[in-house]
Amino acid sequence: MANVIVGVTGGIAAYKAAELVSLLGKQGHAVRCIMTDAAQQFITPLTLQTLSGNPVYTSLFQIQESPEWQVEHIGLARWADCMLIVPATADFIGKVAHGFADDLLSTCVMAATAPVFFAPAMNDQMYANPLVQRNIAILRDAGYGFIDPVEGNLACGTSGKGKMASPQQIAAVLETLRKQDLQGMRIVVTAGPTREAVDPVRYITNHSSGKMGYAIARQAANRGADVVLVSGPSSQAVPANVTVVPVQSARDMFAAVQEQYSSADVVIKAAAVADYRPKTAAAQKIKKSDGDMVLELERNPDILAWLGEHKQNQILMGFAAETNDVQQNALGKLQRKHLDFIAANDVTQQHSGFGKDTNQITVYGADGSVTALPVLAKEDAADRLLDLVLQLYQARNK
Ligand code: PMT
Repeated sequence: MANVIVGVTGGIAAYKAAELVSLLGKQGHAVRCIMTDAAQQFITPLTLQTLSGNPVYTSLFQIQESPEWQVEHIGLARWADCMLIVPATADFIGKVAHGFADDLLSTCVMAATAPVFFAPAMNDQMYANPLVQRNIAILRDAGYGFIDPVEGNLACGTSGKGKMASPQQIAAVLETLRKQDLQGMRIVVTAGPTREAVDPVRYITNHSSGKMGYAIARQAANRGADVVLVSGPSSQAVPANVTVVPVQSARDMFAAVQEQYSSADVVIKAAAVADYRPKTAAAQKIKKSDGDMVLELERNPDILAWLGEHKQNQILMGFAAETNDVQQNALGKLQRKHLDFIAANDVTQQHSGFGKDTNQITVYGADGSVTALPVLAKEDAADRLLDLVLQLYQARNK
């Protein structure tokens, strides 16, 4: 069980911090809470003290009141195995991203050597603001973790992405911290769409955002794997401890994956690769004329089929994005491409597929197994897929 600091900043979702503290306590973790001044406008230290069974820290200058710590923020930071900032306001995210440390919580975050996770909660427009997104990207680049907010009704009366993840989702990061069960495995993940050039300013692509593949890469790295992410164009933040190989077209992706293949233990192909590309990409911008235009397409290489043909000991997991006959189509791909698993998602479902934060996946195994997962956040779905891969890896390497 872990020593967890729950840092509470000033947003209405602060009340959910109380539920989180209670949940962590029930799970057997030792919890200490730090509250900013603004957090205390929303809930009281007494609430968190009662639920955590520990004093609540509210001030950098509390040293006389609790002589337990020589230098409070350093002592607390050393004690923690993990810090959870719940909720993380735009203000607090911006402050840490720019290196400010002017209260107990920000100094603790700065002094922490343990993993720190932020659970943002705010109005959807605030969350979408490029400044907030830039600050989040700065923190991700620096190795801080994020438990992304979800879409839902917000306290300000609107609805959108900004609602804090549930206490259960936030508590789940401790699971991934504990588990370093993928250590020693080299996992290649592909993500995002490909872009097939028509001319210098136009291309053919699809709606893949990269979220699914990035979630797999992130969770695999959190669990100790050595991860290479071959990514088509995507605005997703680069996960910590993941080597990213950016690509544009299917042929670029093919070359990048081929280069990684011999040293990979596992390849997970979440990318939505274009099956066709324009036969010729015009060197100059194509000018319009009065008549119609016909674009001749030719086949792209099927990367996954090639991987299946050249498989040695690698575990291969493909994805099947289907709009109809999901099981039949997925099983066809499993067999034709010599895969160990195919993760089928019905992309017509409201909570699944392209661009969504959640996915509902059924995994078919080459051994005939069927694992039907419920609708899950893509991070959680990623973990379940990695669990299946790990089981097979362990069975093969007994
Ligand atoms: O990126 P998100 O917005 O999060 O969306 C996630 C997703 C819907 C893209 C993802 O969950 C998904 O289903 N990815 C696979 C999409 C796809 O291209 O499916 P497919 O049925 O066309 O291809 C089957 C498999 O073959 C895939 O693993 C694909 O990567 C691979 N393939 C396909 C064509 C090709 N030329 N080369 C390939 O390797």
